[in-house]
Amino acid sequence: MAVDADSFRRALRRFASGVTVVTVGLDGELHGMTASSFASVSLEPPLILVCLDKASRTRALILEKGSFAVNILADDQEDVSRSFSRRGVKPFDQLSHRPGTGGDPLLAGAIAWIECRLDQMVEAGDHDIFVGEVLSCNDHAGTPLLYYDQSYRSLTDPSA
Ligand SMILES: Cc1cc2nc3c(=O)[nH]c(=O)nc-3n(C[C@H](O)[C@H](O)[C@H](O)COP(=O)(O)O)c2cc1C
Repeated sequence: MAVDADSFRRALRRFASGVTVVTVGLDGELHGMTASSFASVSLEPPLILVCLDKASRTRALILEKGSFAVNILADDQEDVSRSFSRRGVKPFDQLSHRPGTGGDPLLAGAIAWIECRLDQMVEAGDHDIFVGEVLSCNDHAGTPLLYYDQSYRSLTDPSA
């Protein structure tokens, strides 16, 4: 029996996650998208994953480039998450950022940055699972932005 789509969505809303922006820079074009599907996969070798909509522009650029960066957002970056979840041109001109070693943009204010080489892509329904081999990473103290039940939250939010 097929799973009811509403029940599936309701169940998924009960999962709390952090929020990342996955970025890629190719031939002068900077692009990126908000993604909460980030997960760690392996310590040795160091691997992470993100699941990207087959229709997303970020996915297409990462496939072409073969690398990407994951920016883990701080709880004062809700506006960054919102703007990178809209399709179209992303607001790199309004944000402070710098190129990582592979040229993929690293956003100022994030609490961690993970630069990856695309290791493999696994097709999975209407998304693809991108497994990245971690080439470098960095972090600094800060509180993460959280997403739960279609709302942004913070660890310091008493209702979280
Ligand atoms: C909190 C949040 C988490 C999201 N997580 C994902 C995700 O993990 N994978 C995905 O494909 N889209 C995710 N999205 C939707 C994308 O950010 C959105 O489709 C974006 O417009 C794609 O941009 P692009 O087509 O320019 O690459 C998320 C949106 C929000 C608000």
